[in-house]
Amino acid sequence: MIKVQNLTKKFGGFTAVNNASLEIAAGSITGLIGPNGAGKTTLFNVIAGVYTPSGGSVFLDGEDITGLPPHELFHKGMLRTFQIAHEFSSLTVRENLMMVPGNQAGESLRDVWFSRKKVMAQEASVLEKANEVIDFLEITHVANELAGNLSGGQKKLLELGRTMMVDAKVVFLDEVGAGVNRTLLNTIGDAILRLNKERGYTFCVIEHDMDFIDKLCDPVIVMAEGTVLAEGTLSEIKANEQVIEAYLGTGLKNKAAS
Ligand SMILES: Nc1ncnc2c1ncn2[C@@H]1O[C@H](COP(=O)(O)OP(=O)(O)OP(=O)(O)O)[C@@H](O)[C@H]1O
Ligand SMILES: [Mg+2]
Repeated sequence: MIKVQNLTKKFGGFTAVNNASLEIAAGSITGLIGPNGAGKTTLFNVIAGVYTPSGGSVFLDGEDITGLPPHELFHKGMLRTFQIAHEFSSLTVRENLMMVPGNQAGESLRDVWFSRKKVMAQEASVLEKANEVIDFLEITHVANELAGNLSGGQKKLLELGRTMMVDAKVVFLDEVGAGVNRTLLNTIGDAILRLNKERGYTFCVIEHDMDFIDKLCDPVIVMAEGTVLAEGTLSEIKANEQVIEAYLGTGLKNKAAS
């Protein structure tokens, strides 16, 4: 579904992503791991149109999408969440979800005055969709809570919920598990698995928690110092000498031995 070819991103003289090539198969939950500073978030940002690449190409379903802005990619069904959650803190959870779909009739002043029926029908369907997402993620108890009052983990769940308000093909998740307690992390993991199995979502997941990666991801791609080091199942990767070397002192080696 996604094909990244020889992608490079430089910041001044520093090369954050260096000639990286990888593929994300339709229907997969592909993991992207690597030590801090490996270039994972930068790679996401280039794929998602936040940064223009210094070289290389990105394809979505065979279409060259290199350098397209995020809103165009959004309309093509390519969505991402952020390493730091981006909620509207003074709106409720339900309102946050309802903010997502673009081109709502109510956004045009002309429509508000002349096609009230159209606006109301559309708002009702967006509300219905938001309630469906709330049920799916089992967050009914916080639906009317201001998003700013949510825990870190609940905010991540809301981020995932926002990707469900539109017909997403492929969703990029940047550290959905960071700072999230174990129980909520399991809830997030289960929601990702269900979205993949029941709704056919394709995911690319950046995560440092190897248990989370183990539960969700196949294949796993490893990045280090801007390059793609290896790809395979998590157990293959844990046995890869180059990967162990790249992770020395950061814990994967111990996990690999255990
Ligand atoms: N906007 C920027 N300007 C300059 N350097 C940057 C910028 N963004 C990232 N970098 C550098 O690029 C390298 C890769 O950063 P990136 O955030 O992509 O790593 P990462 O793999 O996501 O790390 P982490 O696991 O810590 O989130 C780092 O050395 C970082 O300092
Ligand atoms: Mg990062």
